[in-house]
Amino acid sequence: MLYTTTDGLNSQFSHNSRPTKRFLCRRDVQDTKTSNLNAYFSAFHALFADQYHFGRALNFMPKECVPMAMEYLKQLNILFGEDVLPKEINGYRLPPGFEPETAKFAYNHMEINKCDILVATYPKTGTTWIVSIVYHILYGDNPRDLEKYSALQFFFHYLEFGAVCKYEVFKKITFPRQVFVTHLPEPLVNIKKFKANGAKIIYVIRNPKDQAVSWRHFIKDFAYSKFEFWKPFYPEDENKFYDVYLAGNQYAFAKKGEGYLEHTDLECIKEWYKHKNDKNVLFLVYEEMKKNSHKEIKKIADFIGKSLTDEQLNNVVEKTSFSSMKRESEKGANFFRKGQIGDWKNHLTVAQSELIDRKVKEILGDTDIEFIYE
Ligand code: A3P
Repeated sequence: MLYTTTDGLNSQFSHNSRPTKRFLCRRDVQDTKTSNLNAYFSAFHALFADQYHFGRALNFMPKECVPMAMEYLKQLNILFGEDVLPKEINGYRLPPGFEPETAKFAYNHMEINKCDILVATYPKTGTTWIVSIVYHILYGDNPRDLEKYSALQFFFHYLEFGAVCKYEVFKKITFPRQVFVTHLPEPLVNIKKFKANGAKIIYVIRNPKDQAVSWRHFIKDFAYSKFEFWKPFYPEDENKFYDVYLAGNQYAFAKKGEGYLEHTDLECIKEWYKHKNDKNVLFLVYEEMKKNSHKEIKKIADFIGKSLTDEQLNNVVEKTSFSSMKRESEKGANFFRKGQIGDWKNHLTVAQSELIDRKVKEILGDTDIEFIYE
């Protein structure tokens, strides 16, 4: 095991991040008939070197940051390439790359400033879209700043992603406004600190049927899902995949047996939803963003305190439309698939769709959340 974690977790984070068994290593992978290490590394490279503009980020960094940034990349390589391990934090199961120690560090030590913005989401609910909107609102008038700050921030901005050393790089870069992202459940994010420091939080929800379909298409492109260890979690057969996912048997920021809608000691959406009316929190709905992008993007701009002219607003809407973002995206993980409402009808069985309906009723029945399915 090349990547080591430190001990001494506080009460917020019980210590179960280190699996006692070493599940996979490079040799295991090479031995596995169905696995293709080269494909794995090129997928890794495509995802992190191209999709996240890492090369460009290096160009914009103060020189003294480069060795540390390279170390971060190296550690990511280790996390992804040498030991594709399942990890957990307080029982929440994280996909590879998302690190309990980094989540813990963010909770306890990261610096949060008044101007900072945190985009909190469950995976596949429109994270990339919202983040891009925020960048375009902040820097849309200045293409160089847009490129610079999105390149610099994009690689590091998940609170819980990658190795802790990224926070060292962060400290040395001056951002006009930092934009962070998280998929962690609410109790594992230091909301009090964000609020106390006057930062803003944007939370977005998406109907759980389209979320499930989006998740499947995303995960199946990851080479790790083809490895022997992960195969039972991510079956190739589409129906089986959804059955396993809906039974809460994947590594998706939830405890075993749970998922997007539910967590035992808390409910994923509900925990965030209780902040809906807080002054520095904006709650968004993916489908409303789709149906009325102008209105929702203006809402985001107002929330982060940036007034836009009609022309500027139109520009953000245009630049962050699905077609523009897909066109501009580089090869790599599929963050831009269909961007539609209702694609679930082409993928879920009636039984799977009804199961989601039942869960929504059971778990969110006492809230005013009404998902939009078409
Ligand atoms: P689909 O797989 O249904 O197409 P995340 O960024 O949280 O991973 O979410 C990814 C989902 O958001 C994908 O959904 C993706 O296509 C969609 N998406 C990304 N950019 C979008 C945009 N500009 N407009 C609408 N949907 C977008």
